[in-house]
Amino acid sequence: MTGGVLEEALLAAWRRSDELFALVPEAAWLERPIGQRHPILFYVGHLPAFAWNQVGRGALFAGHLDERLDVLYARGIDPEDDAGAEAQSITAWPSILETIGYRDRVRAAIRAKIADVLARPGDPLCENGRVLWLVVEHELMHHETLLYMLAECAPGLIVRPEALPPPEGGEGREAEPREIAAGKAVIGASWQEIPFGWDNEFGRVVEDVAAFTIDSLPARNLDWLSFFQHHGARDALFPRSWVRVPRGGLAVKTVFGPVPFELAAGWPAQVSGEQARAYCAWRGGRLPTEAELRRAAFGTPEGGLRSYPWGEAPPGPEHGNFGFRHVHPTPVGAFPGSTSAWGVEELVGNGWEWTGTAFSPLAGFTAWARTYPGYSADFFDGAHDVVFGASWATDERLLRRSFRNWYRRNYPYPFTSFRVVREA
Ligand code: AVJ
Ligand code: FE
Repeated sequence: MTGGVLEEALLAAWRRSDELFALVPEAAWLERPIGQRHPILFYVGHLPAFAWNQVGRGALFAGHLDERLDVLYARGIDPEDDAGAEAQSITAWPSILETIGYRDRVRAAIRAKIADVLARPGDPLCENGRVLWLVVEHELMHHETLLYMLAECAPGLIVRPEALPPPEGGEGREAEPREIAAGKAVIGASWQEIPFGWDNEFGRVVEDVAAFTIDSLPARNLDWLSFFQHHGARDALFPRSWVRVPRGGLAVKTVFGPVPFELAAGWPAQVSGEQARAYCAWRGGRLPTEAELRRAAFGTPEGGLRSYPWGEAPPGPEHGNFGFRHVHPTPVGAFPGSTSAWGVEELVGNGWEWTGTAFSPLAGFTAWARTYPGYSADFFDGAHDVVFGASWATDERLLRRSFRNWYRRNYPYPFTSFRVVREA
């Protein structure tokens, strides 16, 4: 591992952070588009605070850069509901100027410390530059968090820069059932297998999976509409990603404001895990387990194990909607190049797929990062479910096979999707 590769990855992540925060108008820094989260300004400070707390204070024992801001911006919140969020809310935030000044001091300090990190062999946190990859990937994950927060802002607040591609509309394709034979699924990786992974990716677990049938594509907004109407248009089944518009119409939220329902009809339905479960039951099925999705994605009828659903080629534009090439979901079925060995499409990209599996440690789990023992362990509580794959706002770096993600089962905001499974 050379410092140059790490420095490039840090600079690329910081560049995208700056591009994304530039979408936020001055007047909106203290907006809290999601009641369960801090205001947008928090995230401007959180990214550098996390970086310094991990690298400077944690790995190198270099002490505080700015004690007040290192602490204030250290961690986000994950309350059960808005009432819990109120209890944890802070009213007196530093100014945006002070926060940006802090960010720039941290970035300079981190760049200057790359060599020091790599000069500590024998410390698992520093070997392979792990603590710096932790910082890079944390920043990449927050790009997605920020974007799904921006999608909750009042229409008109976030304006699409002209350089960004307009949304692609259409009805997409209807899902078809695909048979997956009984066999093995691999979850996670061994410590030696990958140069960097988050704590929840270790160790390497091989699970026996019974035969099952899975939809070739995720459920679309138009599929959800029939479900919704079939059930008396109950509020509990109304997706948070939809909005009602005057005269009885519907629109679908995007980062840049709502678009007509017809345009988004073929996009994956973005609902909570709880809602997704109800849809699957109505269709006579259930959500896939994490192991089932992994077998559908990476397994082959011959008993092989692929790096990606489409094979070994590094992720490219033909393989799915991920990596910010689009800034919206796309109508399902637009990526034949994504097809897995079993004929299942778009398993990676276009929305993190809800599973019916509660997020929990793999056998062999250890919170290896002494600086961040709670990254995953704080969420092994039965209220968070594994989500699989990626969304349009997921960086390619996070598409490695062992990567695992999760959200609170009733959390309706993130860029998720789901597909139906039936017993064979
Ligand atoms: C892994 C995406 C669930 O957004 O809460 C960011 C990532 N953790 N800072 C989240 C994370 C701490 C995390 N997810
Ligand atoms: Fe964070």
